[in-house]
Amino acid sequence: MAQHLAFGIDIGGSGIKGAPVDLETGEFTAGRLRIPTPEKSTPEAVAQVLAELVGSFDLPKKAAVGVAFPAPMDHGVVRFIANLDQSWKGVDLPALLHEATGREVTAVNDADAAGIGEQRYGAAHGRDGTVLVVTLGTGIGSALIVDGVLVPNTELGHLEIDGFDAESRAADSAREREGLDFASWAQRLQRYFETVEMLLSPDLIVVGGGISKKHAEFLPLLDLRAKIIPAELRNAAGIVGAAALAASDAERSRKKKRKR
Ligand code: BGC
Repeated sequence: MAQHLAFGIDIGGSGIKGAPVDLETGEFTAGRLRIPTPEKSTPEAVAQVLAELVGSFDLPKKAAVGVAFPAPMDHGVVRFIANLDQSWKGVDLPALLHEATGREVTAVNDADAAGIGEQRYGAAHGRDGTVLVVTLGTGIGSALIVDGVLVPNTELGHLEIDGFDAESRAADSAREREGLDFASWAQRLQRYFETVEMLLSPDLIVVGGGISKKHAEFLPLLDLRAKIIPAELRNAAGIVGAAALAASDAERSRKKKRKR
């Protein structure tokens, strides 16, 4: 039988957040818990926080656990890492977290998780065609979903635009770091999104990340062919999407076992 509850975790540069998710509705079944990301965000330190987070909830033994991680995930292995400790490179995240929590863990890129969250329960629900979910935070994350199917690890935050790594100019952290007003930041976003649009011709762009709650300040300033709208799940999207992806994973391995 398919599980209706899974646990989602979102690992970010400043906080590690987790909550149990009702997979029918995409809503949390208990309050989200947030633990600050350890200053030295090594795999060992982060794994300890994760064990604490999972242990704080009374989860059914078989509940799937999904982790959204801010790096491209090559079948669970971190390929490169922009915004956490460099020692993450090459780490097998599900193996590390299995050791720390005793549970089977599915690890996915954080923007892919957010994309799936928005597609199943939020702003991109029921949308066919090419949907691009872009998260603006410490970095820029991207999820490309074509007719409901995720193309994982697109990493469009690292496109080189005008000689710069795009996220170093257009992420929300760049706006904060440089004290840009929304009009100046929107100019950078325009350059970013028009480049992405030229490459992929999306039908819909969904903008997520914490700053998306202030969408009225910058989305109307953008001039694009594609419709561009704010995310609905905002910062919950990573947790919800990771939980949903973990549940699908668990279901797939159950089916495989049954066939054997
Ligand atoms: C990382 C991506 C991640 C994004 C948002 C980028 O620097 O390379 O994997 O999705 O930041 O966290």
